[in-house]
Amino acid sequence: MALFVDTIENRSLSSRRKYVPRPPRGEVSVSVFTNPAAAAEGGAQAYIDATLGLLGDRDPLTVLRQGPAAFEELMSGSSPERLRRPEAPSKWSAAVCRRRSWESPLPTGNGWHGVTIGTAVIECSRPAGESSAMLTDFETLETPVPLIDLDRLQRNLDRMAGYAAEHGLALRPHIKTHKSPMVAGEQILRGASGLTCATLHEVEVMSEMSRDILLAYSPIGYARLRRLMRISESLRLSVMLDSAEAIEGLAHAAERAERDIDVLVELDLGMHRVGVQRASDAVTLVRQIEASPRLRYAGIGFYPGNIRDHVSAQQPALAALNDALATMIGELERVGLAPRVVSGGSTPTAWNSHLIGGLTEIRPGTYVFNDRTTAEIGACDWHDCALTVLATVVSTSVPNQAVIDAGSKALGREPLRSDGAGYGVVVGQPDVVVGAMSEEHGLLDLSGTSWRPAIGDLVRVIPNHACLVVNLHDQVIGVRGDAVMTRWPVAARGR
Ligand SMILES: Cc1ncc(COP(=O)(O)O)c(C=O)c1O
Repeated sequence: MALFVDTIENRSLSSRRKYVPRPPRGEVSVSVFTNPAAAAEGGAQAYIDATLGLLGDRDPLTVLRQGPAAFEELMSGSSPERLRRPEAPSKWSAAVCRRRSWESPLPTGNGWHGVTIGTAVIECSRPAGESSAMLTDFETLETPVPLIDLDRLQRNLDRMAGYAAEHGLALRPHIKTHKSPMVAGEQILRGASGLTCATLHEVEVMSEMSRDILLAYSPIGYARLRRLMRISESLRLSVMLDSAEAIEGLAHAAERAERDIDVLVELDLGMHRVGVQRASDAVTLVRQIEASPRLRYAGIGFYPGNIRDHVSAQQPALAALNDALATMIGELERVGLAPRVVSGGSTPTAWNSHLIGGLTEIRPGTYVFNDRTTAEIGACDWHDCALTVLATVVSTSVPNQAVIDAGSKALGREPLRSDGAGYGVVVGQPDVVVGAMSEEHGLLDLSGTSWRPAIGDLVRVIPNHACLVVNLHDQVIGVRGDAVMTRWPVAARGR
């Protein structure tokens, strides 16, 4: 399945503009994605696979409104002009597009429909006489900037979707890692039952992608509740919370707004962040939910973020989790309040989710990109790390040190939660970490290596925590190998 590219360049989802990347080589599918409600409104919310640059200078929405016939026309020719983006500094001068197939319906879950409009074969070649000493794609980028390896992203998405399907678990990924409608769309296409969000802005942005969203954060306070109730009513909204106060506020807001909200009671099964402590407390909250006319008791949830052991050594922690969960479920069942949904899951525990008794749904987030922490924990291999921060060496004055332009404002200052020093590791130099940082400076400690980068060299850093990095940047760049393919905004960033 081809990754399709977000055509949003600002936060208003209804005013999308195209980003036309350089045509890649190879075979890619062209798809249009829409949901029934959007289609009824004239298809204004549809997504197009613009990975190809097939749209040329056309506005994707214009093409969409013209319907599949416009795509037919767009792809039927073999004119290189169609694929060229004249204003782009392009290495590619010739491109051939051949239509392969049409109209293979691609039913997708969650109310979304995707139709594969066709498959194109793209061939590109370097212009005659163009020097091979031209800048590489990465050299044209302003650093520091996050790069997303699209092949790795695709593999990570496929693998988690496959795992969830194999074990009969609903996958409701937490989108806080990518904050991108484009990646969310890929998750939904792979069968995600819905999405998980932490902030109201995330819910707002993602409500255009999914009809089923869980806000895994207590909506405390008037302003939060007011904003929550403004989310499209066509959405099935669930909220995870852990207090009588949260239920009371939500119940009133839901009554005033005349809308029904599903509620999960959050349990503390070892994380000690939020969540009720005792089964009897869970029962009390469920009864309060059931007594609220507009609230529906949907089930229970927890976040096992405390389990940071290596994947191969999680058994004792999982056993403790299982015991605590079984006690909670048992007590709820005993009083006739068996949970329909038992929602849990993190990336470090994701691949052991089938060992957690009673679990019906997992909410991993980090797995889409992975990071140094995830690799150290063994929940991914190093070659599954899809996100790196591209940075430039800006100083080598101090002996045994190189300074890059990625400091805490590009990498995030999060220590490794497993063993290991520094804030990120340099790709290809496993002994070199970003040992210290100022806001705009990252200090590479070269004392343990003979590697000496020169000023102006580009390096890629695998950060300790991918989610923090994404949240620090306006946009990310999609790459394949050393080719820049696309970029997309971090649309759900901000409050
Ligand atoms: C409530 C909740 N669910 C799911 C997740 C996703 O976990 P991970 O980042 O390990 O994938 C998080 C992460 O912070 C979370 O807070």
